[in-house]
Amino acid sequence: MMNELLEKIFSTGEFVNKKREPVKIHSETPKYQCEFLQQLIRENQCSRSIEIGFAYGLSTLAITEQITKNGGIHLVIDPFEYEHWEGNGLDLIEQAGYLPSLTFVEDFSYKVLPELLKQEKQFDFAYIDSTKVFDFLMVDFFYLDKIMAKNGIIVFDDVNFPGIRKLLRLIAQFPHYEVLSQTPVNPEGPKAHNINSIIKKLPRVNTYLKQKVKSLINLELLKDAKLGINNHCVALRKIDSDHRNWYWHLEF
Ligand SMILES: C[S@@+](CC[C@H](N)C(=O)[O-])C[C@H]1O[C@@H](n2cnc3c(N)ncnc32)[C@H](O)[C@@H]1O
Repeated sequence: MMNELLEKIFSTGEFVNKKREPVKIHSETPKYQCEFLQQLIRENQCSRSIEIGFAYGLSTLAITEQITKNGGIHLVIDPFEYEHWEGNGLDLIEQAGYLPSLTFVEDFSYKVLPELLKQEKQFDFAYIDSTKVFDFLMVDFFYLDKIMAKNGIIVFDDVNFPGIRKLLRLIAQFPHYEVLSQTPVNPEGPKAHNINSIIKKLPRVNTYLKQKVKSLINLELLKDAKLGINNHCVALRKIDSDHRNWYWHLEF
């Protein structure tokens, strides 16, 4: 069962902060996805979690609740928590009684993550729900990979955004990562696989024409389904250290 306060916010769409002002939530991680995060933490016994993007703190509350059950602590990064969100995320965590289990850093992730690496911090769970810009997220992932323990889990939200999908096309193919799961259930998979099998059945078509047909029906969609990243929220597991050599490359 999820935290009572969190359940109530999901059903009413708001909460009252300690200044007695109503806070109408938006941009939040939906309930089913919060349950998905909690399930991953529970089943994998994670206890050292990190999150990028605090806002009104819905996912932060879900993660902190589950991490606390595992005896751990949670770290959340957001440069705009006061400036844009008026500290209401922290207010929510305090109301739920989880403030002692939360470390909040008011800064950009690209400044905080290198510091965590310098401090030799290690995490076993990460949730990314911040900017949707490819290069910013690429930098975040680079550092997260370095501070992630073996078997650690990194969950990306908003994988339907082109920049994030592009990034996942690369890291889902890293030798030291595997796609663990996704939510909601893979909506495009079967359809995409059907298209692929139709192309394969085109017998007397030359390779060039086959390639043309493939690009016409969006090869990327097929590849994303095969990689297991054609969804809104995708979890990856770091299965090993990074052993790629200096000229490692693949198209994505
Ligand atoms: C969609 S909201 C997060 C919602 C939150 N996960 C929830 O469930 O309520 C995205 C947040 O990312 C923050 N953000 C944007 N760029 C960031 C960055 N580079 N580092 C940390 N946080 C960032 C924004 O300030 C915003 O609060």
